[in-house]
Amino acid sequence: MFQRFNEEELKNQISSSKEKLEQYKLQGLKLDMSRGKPCSNQLDLSVGIFDVVKPDSCFLTSTGTDVRNYSVPAEFTGLSEMREMFSEIISVEKDLIFIGGNSSLNLMFNYFSKLFMKGLPDRNIPWNNYEKIKFLCPSPGYDRHFSITEYFGIEMIPVEMNSDGPDMNVVEELVKNDGDIKGIWCTPVYSNPTGCVYSDETIKRLASLKCKSDEFLIFWDMAYVLHNLYGEIIKIPDIISECANYGNENRPIIFASMSKVTFAGSGVTCLAASKKNLASFLETARVSTIGYDKINQMKHVKYLKDLDNINLLMGKHADIIRPKFEKVLQIFEEKLGGLGIAEWTSPRGGYFISLDVYPHTAKKVHSICRDCGVVLTPAGSTFPYGKDPDDKNLRIAPTYPDIEELDFACNILCEAVKYAAATEIISNK
Ligand SMILES: Cc1ncc(COP(=O)(O)O)c(C=O)c1O
Repeated sequence: MFQRFNEEELKNQISSSKEKLEQYKLQGLKLDMSRGKPCSNQLDLSVGIFDVVKPDSCFLTSTGTDVRNYSVPAEFTGLSEMREMFSEIISVEKDLIFIGGNSSLNLMFNYFSKLFMKGLPDRNIPWNNYEKIKFLCPSPGYDRHFSITEYFGIEMIPVEMNSDGPDMNVVEELVKNDGDIKGIWCTPVYSNPTGCVYSDETIKRLASLKCKSDEFLIFWDMAYVLHNLYGEIIKIPDIISECANYGNENRPIIFASMSKVTFAGSGVTCLAASKKNLASFLETARVSTIGYDKINQMKHVKYLKDLDNINLLMGKHADIIRPKFEKVLQIFEEKLGGLGIAEWTSPRGGYFISLDVYPHTAKKVHSICRDCGVVLTPAGSTFPYGKDPDDKNLRIAPTYPDIEELDFACNILCEAVKYAAATEIISNK
């Protein structure tokens, strides 16, 4: 509809939005919708974890390990109970699971370090030796995935993200012809930031990809597998078995995290991979540490108990954050619906909403919001190298602010979107 406005109507829109934004500016607000952080009510859900391990607790695991001491080599992969828990969560057999520390990103980084220093098992060609390595980056995607690949000097190729996962026609074409492409980033359940869930068809096509490089890896980040907003339990095909059906069982490296189940940055994480890939990763991991934090693993096992109990806890998280997602979507619909200047996703889980504003205005919207005291994730950060070719995507993180702050922040955001769109359209008339 905005595109059909005549010049006078656009000018009116600009001056009315400007006036409102000036008023917002005077209020000295400080609202943060930039990072996907749980709010304190969510963190309160897990404080009981501090009661499950007390000075007089039994510190022995089912296999007789004292968690207060260094692990025996056989238990380097983590507490048996913790591996069982993750095995249920990600539907991968326990023997293929390694329990890490407090950050799955750290495991991803370590996996790349290993690849660059030692290469893949059997091949043993350090990726450092290659002149060029490329990775496919479904976009919009997660900025910290992109930071890791950029750090290692990997060339990132954006691939469009559809509602059922990456555009597989493009992926198939690229990997068939280019042997420098050695992997793809995937967040298959409630992807960051669009919230999409990969379809079975997409997963099958990823598993069966015919790649020019025989070193192609799928970095499969299951960060949000438990994070549904509406009580739906998402079961996607197990990527290791799916890949094995096509003789590609060494392709996927899976990651998962408790960061948004218990405490952000103080959870427990896991890496899962084929027997061969896991053994090779462990060779390096064993040199880098005597073992990860078993006391935290015990706390998680005792507090979370089993998958049914975890799902109950996730239901409580959802009860806290679902109204926030719905508030954002309601304001977007009221303020931007039908104007033809913005589109957004309506995720059924995860931590984000992806907002596409009028092309070539996302940076402007971001800076107007900042001037009015609303912090958003920088425009462009959902694309490799921070470069959104259309300058239109913004990642909205509704979980941290309270609902009144969110209401305020979204009204400011929508006014900024309208102002920036009208300004852009008029400048092209
Ligand atoms: C897709 C994705 N993976 C991983 C993480 C971080 O996980 P961790 O805290 O385990 O490092 C996040 C956090 O926002 C995320 O969105």
